[in-house]
Amino acid sequence: MQSSPRCHPFPDIKYTTGRPNRATNIPLSDNSEAKKAIAKCAGETYIGAPEEKKVKSVELASNVFWVGALDPDLRIFDINVKTDYGTTYNAYLVKGEKTALIDGVKSGFEDQLFERLLPHLAIEDLDYFILNHTEPDHSGALGKLLERNPNLKLLCAKPALPFLKNIINDDKVSVEGVKDGQLLELGGATLEFISAPFMHWPDTMFTYLVEQKILFSCDGYGAHYAPFDDIFYQQNDEVVDHAAWYYYDCIMRPYASHCRKATLKALDREIEICAPSHGPLNKVEPKRFIERYLEWTEIKRLSERPLVVIAYASSYGNTGQMAQTFYQQIQSSEVDVELVDVQNVPAARQRDLYEAADGLLFGSPTFVNDAVKPIWDSLHLLSTISCVGKKAAAFGSYGWGGQAVAIIESYLASLKLKVHESSCRVRLVPSAADLDDCRQFARGFSEFMLN
Ligand SMILES: Cc1cc2nc3c(=O)[nH]c(=O)nc-3n(C[C@H](O)[C@H](O)[C@H](O)COP(=O)(O)O)c2cc1C
Ligand SMILES: [Fe+2]
Ligand SMILES: [Fe+2]
Repeated sequence: MQSSPRCHPFPDIKYTTGRPNRATNIPLSDNSEAKKAIAKCAGETYIGAPEEKKVKSVELASNVFWVGALDPDLRIFDINVKTDYGTTYNAYLVKGEKTALIDGVKSGFEDQLFERLLPHLAIEDLDYFILNHTEPDHSGALGKLLERNPNLKLLCAKPALPFLKNIINDDKVSVEGVKDGQLLELGGATLEFISAPFMHWPDTMFTYLVEQKILFSCDGYGAHYAPFDDIFYQQNDEVVDHAAWYYYDCIMRPYASHCRKATLKALDREIEICAPSHGPLNKVEPKRFIERYLEWTEIKRLSERPLVVIAYASSYGNTGQMAQTFYQQIQSSEVDVELVDVQNVPAARQRDLYEAADGLLFGSPTFVNDAVKPIWDSLHLLSTISCVGKKAAAFGSYGWGGQAVAIIESYLASLKLKVHESSCRVRLVPSAADLDDCRQFARGFSEFMLN
């Protein structure tokens, strides 16, 4: 990655794909180093500097303001996601005859929100709070907002209703679920709600300001990136571009097909500003962040034929011999096949292969009544990609209980993969007869793939 002409705390950081702790083991940045780097940036007009609280709201268009919060010191988001550049909780005020706040901030950041809102209106006078998504990084300020304005009307997508109920835990609050395409007239400003389910929660929607063509896209097209000197994306900012990819990779990638559907809907509109709920807003190339999702969510088939990936770990080569036997057998069928020794293949490559695969065979010996850790690490990659429609089975060598195979099968089924009715287990060193059984099993799995 090139260093940007603007000041970035970690210009040289090399991300790989994958979740940081589980998959790639990238060491976490030292917070103090981050603070030093951020302080250095403060020499410029850096809006995330210690005087961040003095930063005013930012006008996006006539009567539309960014009133969100900066969290430049955040280093981990949602347990798994590294945030070397901190993040922002973008919130927006739209003023017509009525007023609406779109998206909120995390609990603890209410002061920043209120300070940026107050020059525009008293909190008590706010009419609507539109929750594009109810995850606490956007709904955390709800309690304090309701304390200051108990008459506030909450609007959210219908699937968000049960979530909000369990967040507010107070039946007296007014909450309305809105439908895809529904309009809200504020008087001089029209908001359209566009449902975007599973981007990345079932409750997600976008809000589109019709007159000014601003798409408030919630977590979609966002990036965890706070230390910028301008709330707007600067063309060719490689650090932000990479942060947006990393955000997609960690948060959106398991829902790729849902993201694609919502993205196609968004692109039907004219867009002058893309205003996500984290990171820079894009008005210089408003459709750029959105169109990149089309590229990233494209199904990357390696060939026209179905692909089976055989992933295994093996201490003495017994499970490995089974995997090799399947590999050779499947090679002679109508199905493409890749062999992955998970201890020797980088996690990012494993993920890409699993994402491209139509069928997955996971093999582990049984160690202390369980599958071995490298296989668990590899299996956990499945929850970071979309597994919709994939078929799967388990295999492994064992000495006595041999539980690993059933444990893997049950994990695969819990992730909603279609698990083959047969598995394949061999006690200790595969005999010639065991290898015949392995070939038989592989033939059965190839047929399962083609049906
Ligand atoms: C540390 C260790 C623990 C084991 N625990 C179990 C066990 O709990 N149940 C079992 O069926 N086999 C157990 N085994 C036996 C292995 O599953 C068996 O040796 C298997 O053939 C190893 O296959 P591999 O060469 O593919 O690693 C254990 C082996 C080792 C080395
Ligand atoms: Fe979210
Ligand atoms: Fe978020």
